[in-house]
Amino acid sequence: MDTADRAHAPVVVAIDGPSGSGKSTVSRAVAARLGLSFLDTGAMYRAMTWWMLANEVDVTDAEAVAVACGKPVIVSGVDAAGPTITVDGQDVSGPIRGPEVTAQVSAVSAVPQVRTRLVELQRGCAELAERGIVAEGRDMGTVVFPTATVKVFLTASQNARAERRAAELRAKGVDEATITAMAADLARRDAADSSRDTSPLTQAADAVLVDTSELTLEQVIETITALVEQKAGLTAV
Ligand code: DC
Repeated sequence: MDTADRAHAPVVVAIDGPSGSGKSTVSRAVAARLGLSFLDTGAMYRAMTWWMLANEVDVTDAEAVAVACGKPVIVSGVDAAGPTITVDGQDVSGPIRGPEVTAQVSAVSAVPQVRTRLVELQRGCAELAERGIVAEGRDMGTVVFPTATVKVFLTASQNARAERRAAELRAKGVDEATITAMAADLARRDAADSSRDTSPLTQAADAVLVDTSELTLEQVIETITALVEQKAGLTAV
């Protein structure tokens, strides 16, 4: 693609990284500042998992998941000011963050047929985005949007990520035993997401690595906003 083509192509900002790297908060804030749409692809895998559990599909049976995954109608609202997610018309933004879905989502997201279906929906969201989109997940830069205008791999030390998650949970009044259990679950999920056969979490060769361990949230948002302004020729709205 030459420079002239790129000037007219919708901007795609692909942000990948492990759980607790701050991807969702940062991606949404960058999208809002630059007037871009925002897509949380983890929410789509969570919505698919929620539907499997609600319909009593055995999520440890990859064949059963593969057969069923074409059924739910999953719709992502991509307004950075108020993203939404529905399954068959039902708002599932609350239940998809619960412990049942969180415990099972790695198994469901490892099924290739699930990924094929959701990747198609994700590309559809990008095509419809007027000015462009910030899409966050695990395989945005490697698989879903290989020609993205800007690719960022957001990371933080295991310690920093566990600390941030613990602080969030403490603020919500969650007890220490649950916080410890959730830290173990986070580590297990990262290992599963990074070692699966289909689209594991990996840094794209052309992604910019941003280590957020020693940065404040505002510093990360500013760094990525500046990167997108520079690479995509966009300015804040
Ligand atoms: O970002 P999150 O924690 O909400 O993601 C939930 C799960 O979905 C996570 O365990 C990995 C999976 N996921 C994925 O496989 N591919 C993506 N593009 C996004 C999330």
